[in-house]
Amino acid sequence: MIPPAIREDFPILSEVCYLDSAATSLSPEPVLAAMAEFEHVYRANVGRGVHRLAQVATQKYWDAHQKVRRFIGAGGGELVFTRNTTEAINMVALGLPWKKGDRVVTTLLEHHSNLLPWMRLRDRQGIDLAIITPGADGTLDPDDFREAVTPGTRLVAVTHASNVLGNLVPVREIGEICRDRGALLLVDGAQSVPHLPVDVGELGCDFLCFSGHKMLGPTGTGVLWMKRPVIEPLLLGGGSVEQVTASGYTLTKGYARYEGGTPNIAGAIGLARAVEYLEAIGMEDARKHEQALTKRMLDGISGIGGVTVYGPRAEADRIGVVSFTVKGLHPHEVAEMLDNEADIMVRSGHHCCMPLVTRLGVPDGTVRASLHCYSNGDDVERLIGAVDGIARGA
Ligand SMILES: Cc1ncc(COP(=O)(O)O)c(C=O)c1O
Repeated sequence: MIPPAIREDFPILSEVCYLDSAATSLSPEPVLAAMAEFEHVYRANVGRGVHRLAQVATQKYWDAHQKVRRFIGAGGGELVFTRNTTEAINMVALGLPWKKGDRVVTTLLEHHSNLLPWMRLRDRQGIDLAIITPGADGTLDPDDFREAVTPGTRLVAVTHASNVLGNLVPVREIGEICRDRGALLLVDGAQSVPHLPVDVGELGCDFLCFSGHKMLGPTGTGVLWMKRPVIEPLLLGGGSVEQVTASGYTLTKGYARYEGGTPNIAGAIGLARAVEYLEAIGMEDARKHEQALTKRMLDGISGIGGVTVYGPRAEADRIGVVSFTVKGLHPHEVAEMLDNEADIMVRSGHHCCMPLVTRLGVPDGTVRASLHCYSNGDDVERLIGAVDGIARGA
């Protein structure tokens, strides 16, 4: 069980009902304090100087990588800090050596961040891009992967959980198919790593990408974990080289190779603190807590006349992201009414998934309420009551 007192660590919750955690989560006070400590006590650049502040900062920055590694069960491989999931996915798309005709398999469920980088490779480098279509509730059939992942497939890029429909994707099974056919598997964990236990060994993926700002960490933080460092670094410069002469350079080993330039040091330290915070709550407990709230939210909202709910109904098959539309109202109108009339913050629109919402027959998108470990039953009841009032008046 999650102690209700954790809500005191998130001051915004006393002002508004925050149901937009899939867009970005709130950061608890200990995360802000860890970042302030860096600024006040040991601010220095990392991996460069030898003075004492530089040493402390470098050690804490290194520790931050180890803490995030532990969080996703990554004993081996390379864990690199990025700005967000988008940057992590683009690093893979731009860093792998492609040949014309190499096949990439992805799905129509993807966030634009896991679609556009592959589309650009198709348009510019002649990659053969296959896009698998999910069922109406977002379900992806592993048999479609068996068919699409041909022996020439280099990479399969798939989300672990949909940010629109909330459904969980059978990534383990997809991973087995990839291994059988010699394809690499990239998992977009932006919506799973913050909400359920994720272990890269169990997932069987080659790349895991996720965002720190969706898991109680600061904005401008993200992660790329690679089973093997098979990509070329996107940026070269300070910090990423061992040796430079006028005629050449040797890149350094480890994460620094991929983190050219001064990184977001305070952000990394904040992210590591966020990971410790989530570990103290326990990801199993966080998952159970969010599942129970999701069930109530689904039951409550789908029982309202004039409201259509999207995605799977069973809470075991999904995360705490619930998309819906209200007959006769644009999703943005509903979101504005929820804010103005009930201080409820939700996301509305296409959620950076235009092909998916078009396929669902709702090109204007949906209203999306999303939970995190700090959400509670009152938030959910307030939403259900407010949507009921809006639907009656529509
Ligand atoms: C499934 C999924 N992938 C990728 C992203 C992109 O994340 P970021 O904006 O942090 O790069 C998001 C953000 O909402 C997402 O939900």
